[in-house]
Parts: sequence; structure tokens; C-alpha cells
Amino acid sequence: MKDLNIGLFGFGTVGTGIYKVLERTRNTHASIRRICVRSLAKKRSVDVPSDILTDNPDDIFSDTAIDLVVEVIDDAEASYRIVSEALRRGLPVVSGNKAMIARHLPELIELQRRHNTALLYDASACGSIPVIRNLEEYYDNDLLLEVKGILNGSSNYILSRVFDHGEDYAEALAKAQRLGFAEADPSFDIKGFDSLFKLVIITIHALGVYVNPADVFAYGIASISDFDIRYAREKGAKIKLVAQVVKLDDDRFTLFVMPEFVVPGKYIYSVDDEYNGVVIRGECYDRQFMFGKGAGSLPTASSILSDVTARHHDYRYEYKKMSYDQRPVYTDDVTLRVYIRHREQTLPDGVVFTKITESYVSENGCYTVGDISLATLRANRTLLDNPDIFICNFPRFFLDLD
Ligand code: HSE
Repeated sequence: MKDLNIGLFGFGTVGTGIYKVLERTRNTHASIRRICVRSLAKKRSVDVPSDILTDNPDDIFSDTAIDLVVEVIDDAEASYRIVSEALRRGLPVVSGNKAMIARHLPELIELQRRHNTALLYDASACGSIPVIRNLEEYYDNDLLLEVKGILNGSSNYILSRVFDHGEDYAEALAKAQRLGFAEADPSFDIKGFDSLFKLVIITIHALGVYVNPADVFAYGIASISDFDIRYAREKGAKIKLVAQVVKLDDDRFTLFVMPEFVVPGKYIYSVDDEYNGVVIRGECYDRQFMFGKGAGSLPTASSILSDVTARHHDYRYEYKKMSYDQRPVYTDDVTLRVYIRHREQTLPDGVVFTKITESYVSENGCYTVGDISLATLRANRTLLDNPDIFICNFPRFFLDLD
């Protein structure tokens, strides 16, 4: 088989990691031929021959020796233009851009089909953990019931530092940025959008259904306070940012991203720092657990390298589950049990519990615990972006399996 010549877009945290990892491996059968960057003047953390750097995408697209595009830039719109242009030219692509993929997946699947080429993106969800290819190949049947876990390394890092080490929230966030875990705009991490994009990608490979991220409830840890942390400690729990897609029955499934009270004994309880952890539940095998580094230069680069090697063997996702006879339908008509911390007057009028099991009022803060519909939370999503409000889920096992 012919070695692959890579045209690399992006030479930041992940791009330089790919360069280092490729230099270190001997059996990859791939090398970087050109690197397209936004600014040629910018200082890089690794030395590369200056003639392979360019700031003109056409230097990659018009180079007929390049047979694989690897795209690891952080601008989702520019990423979309590059990836769709490469696919239109019949060039296979490896990408790690979860925001871009989650927003454009149906069109990107169509482009792959029309131009008989491939887009691989295992690095887009959970860094070094091979979630997507496993869902695509191994869990290729309808025994799969649920995929749930910690998909965002930065928010998990922040929660670990704050919960377990008593560090300051803002300092922990700054450290996540310095260590190269956080997005260029870290609000994507802490507001749950990064987890949401990964969940949307996981869902198409888990159940064969695309759900537009705009239609999914995602709520992060941006407004967590000492009050919430104390409440969790009193219950013997940690708060983790959890994403989940779960079948409610044969015909329906739901998905959402929300902080959750996680008690000891659950696999994800001990997933700390920038690690990710994914629990896969199925009808015949109960639970399986995948754990590993989900963010950072080298873990993400290792996943990109795995996709590069897969391309060397002509691997492509077949999206087989999308053509299953009966696919479940997404619904938000599901009841959750949640804790909402609020000031007496700040719970928006529309946020109506169907049942209240606990409520507490004090000068320092109030909370209500009870049952509420996911549709209600979705309908009031923008009103919940308020530092006086924090929502946390008590996990419920819709299928009565736990
Ligand atoms: N900002 C992301 C995270 C990077 O913290 O998980 C990996 O996708």
C-alpha cells in the first residue's frame, strides 16, 4: 500500500501534537507534506522546515501528491469550508472539529457518498478514547440502550480541582486553558456545548439518528456555586457534567447534557481531571466502561493518528444504522428529577415542577428538588442562563435496569 501524503490544516495544540506523534511512530505509513496555517509569522512550539508551511489553502488542494487532508483548526466555519471543499474534490479527510461536524453531519455524509470519499473524526469525541469507531463497528445492532458519560475534559478538570482540591474556579479554568484542554472560547466547555456536539456525533453512530444540536437541552457548570457543592457533599455525591443518549423504549430515545449528582460506585465517579469516561449500556451485556484522556495535544493527536492509519487501510464509516428498518425517534417528553438552586424570586415562571419532593429557603440561597419535564427545561433554556440559577440532575434509569 502506498504511503499517505498529508495536507495538514492547523498547527496549534493538536496540529503540533500530530507532528510530534508522527515523528515518533515508525509504522504509520504517512507523512506531512504541507501545513496550512493562519499566520506564517506566529512562533511555533516545534521546528518544521519553513517550506512546508503555507497560509494558502490552495497550496494543499492543488497539490496532486496530497491524498489525505487532516483538519485541526478551531474555527468551525473555516473548518466547514475546508472539509467540504476537500470532500467535493474527492479527498478523504480526518477532522477533530466537533462543532463543525455536529452542525453539518447530514450534509457531510451526503458529500462522502456523492464523491465516494471518507471523513473520519474519532478525535472529535472523547479525545484518545475510540468511542465512535466502536459504536460504528462493534455495537452495530439494536441491543444498544444508552451511551452516557463525561465528554468534556475541561469542565471535568475544573470540577475536580474545585471539588477535590479546594481550588478557585477561575484559577482552575485558567489552568485548563494553559494546559491546552479548553476551547479557544472556554464558554463552550463550561456551558455544555462542547459535550453537546460530541453527544450529537455519538448519537448518529449509536442509534443511526441525527439530531440537530439546536434541538437538544444542554446546560453546563458556569453558574455552579459553593452552595451547590455543599449540597452535593451532604448527599455524598460529586457533581459531574454528564451527556447522555438513552432509549426510552423501542420507539423513542432522548438526549441531553446536564450536571449530575454522581455517587460513589458509579463508574464515572472516579473520572477526574481532564479524563473522560463513557458508559455503554446494552440489553445483553449490562454496562461497559471506557476511560481515558479526552483533551490535550498528544491524546487528541493519537486519535487523529489512529484515523490516519485507518485511512491507510481505506476505512470509512458506513453509517449502517441510518438504514435500519426501525429507528427510534427523538423526544424530550420525559420527566427528570432535578435540583434547581435559585433565589426566591428567580425561578422563571415557566419552570414548573410536576412534583416537588424537597424545598429549602434561606438567606444564602434556595433550592427546589422535584420532577420536571425535559421539554419544560428546553422551552425555558435561555432564562436559565442566570448566575442565580444552577440545575443538577438526579440520574434516573428510564429503562428500569438499575
Ligand atoms: N475542550 C475540549 C475538552 C477539548 O475540554 O474536552 C477536547 O475535545
